[in-house]
Amino acid sequence: MSVYLFAKELIRDSGAFIRGRMEESFQVERKSNPNDLVTTVDLENEQYIRTKIKEAYPNHNIIGEEYEADMEDSKVGYLWVIDPIDGTLNFVHQRENFAISIGIYKDGEPYAGLILDVMKDKLIHAEAGNGAFVNDEKLSKVKTSHLSNSIVGISHKWLVREDIKGPLIEIVKKCRSPRSLGSAALEYVQLIEGRIEASMFFRLSPWDFSAGKIIGKEVGIITTDFLGRENEWLERTSVLATNSVLQKELLEIMKNDEGFILAHDKFHNIHSSDH
Ligand code: IPD
Ligand code: CA
Ligand code: CA
Ligand code: CA
Repeated sequence: MSVYLFAKELIRDSGAFIRGRMEESFQVERKSNPNDLVTTVDLENEQYIRTKIKEAYPNHNIIGEEYEADMEDSKVGYLWVIDPIDGTLNFVHQRENFAISIGIYKDGEPYAGLILDVMKDKLIHAEAGNGAFVNDEKLSKVKTSHLSNSIVGISHKWLVREDIKGPLIEIVKKCRSPRSLGSAALEYVQLIEGRIEASMFFRLSPWDFSAGKIIGKEVGIITTDFLGRENEWLERTSVLATNSVLQKELLEIMKNDEGFILAHDKFHNIHSSDH
């Protein structure tokens, strides 16, 4: 069985594990701040996934949100980048609209991406270079779009930050309508299925967007940071995912605002001479 087929079975099993676990009680705890939650189900599911991978492939490397990375060289062999529950706030408050996200790299190159909408048991997946699928159905390339007729995923929290809000408010004003789903992985699913046209996050971790980036590429979604650069390998980064036409329009708005560029790079600890 290929690693890709194994991953498809694993993510479905992991979804069943979460759904079963939701029938029992679980604990909710705070992480870095009162709105940053983690539940015992996040922790147990990451352990579940890690154990299954290690049983089948003892030499594979894994990084996930809730536990330390255990690897020597991330660009040698297989690397699994996992988010056991993406959208923990939705999981706690809504009991839906959350996902499991798995990105897999081989020798530092994208190998496969998988996102499971857990409550719908809907799997979006791709083996790099072979197209993207929703369950067994192949997805078409996304259409290009302009800002004026696009739905843009953007979190309201970033719109109220004084140092960066300028171009972001301009984008919200000029687009057809903004949305915020509360799960970066499921926002990618909407993009990949052509239900929204762009998704913007001022800061994401690799487990939030690795799978989406790999699957999105198969249907013509380009992922960069907010200034059009390749996202830093396994670092926290801003994420702009969209079609080729809209990407140019959005980058233009952000690149024309010097204060925004400085604030962006200061936040992400990037020296401005780097671009
Ligand atoms: C979060 C979600 C959310 C995004 C946050 C992420 P989590 O992931 O993807 O949409 O805005 O930045 O941390 O913590 O629920 O796995
Ligand atoms: Ca989290
Ligand atoms: Ca996440
Ligand atoms: Ca998570």
